[in-house]
Amino acid sequence: MKEPPHIRWIVSDIQQFSTEEPFDLIVVAEVLYYVGDIAEMRAAVGNIVQLLAPGGHLVFGSARDANCRRWGHVAGAETVIAMLSETLVEVERHECRGESINEDCLLSLFRNPVSDTP
Ligand SMILES: C[S@@+](CC[C@H](N)C(=O)[O-])C[C@H]1O[C@@H](n2cnc3c(N)ncnc32)[C@H](O)[C@@H]1O
Repeated sequence: MKEPPHIRWIVSDIQQFSTEEPFDLIVVAEVLYYVGDIAEMRAAVGNIVQLLAPGGHLVFGSARDANCRRWGHVAGAETVIAMLSETLVEVERHECRGESINEDCLLSLFRNPVSDTP
């Protein structure tokens, strides 16, 4: 199938990626707990937030802190949601549970409150 011409695929480290054009929508799911320690996680969150356009939305999904720590990561959903909430407004949150102990995630929708109107 031919790629639509308005879509550009970029493979990048979430800690390094930058662009001149801000995004209206960012989806980041089950990625941030792979980013090293808390300081690196905070830096990655800061990088993502500054990629978001004024009024733009960010969908964040992750396993909860407890499972991420059990898997050997420093933190998970609750920690990242707290970091995102320092800049963005959380407008919706869902708890996603399955039958296994590993299936326990949070899914949050954030909005960038910075308005682009003067
Ligand atoms: C568990 S998978 C989740 C994939 C997908 N987002 C999903 O929800 O199905 C974790 C993904 O995080 C990516 N990842 C890990 N560290 C990353 C980083 N520093 N920058 C960008 N992607 C990263 C991995 O390449 C992998 O594709």
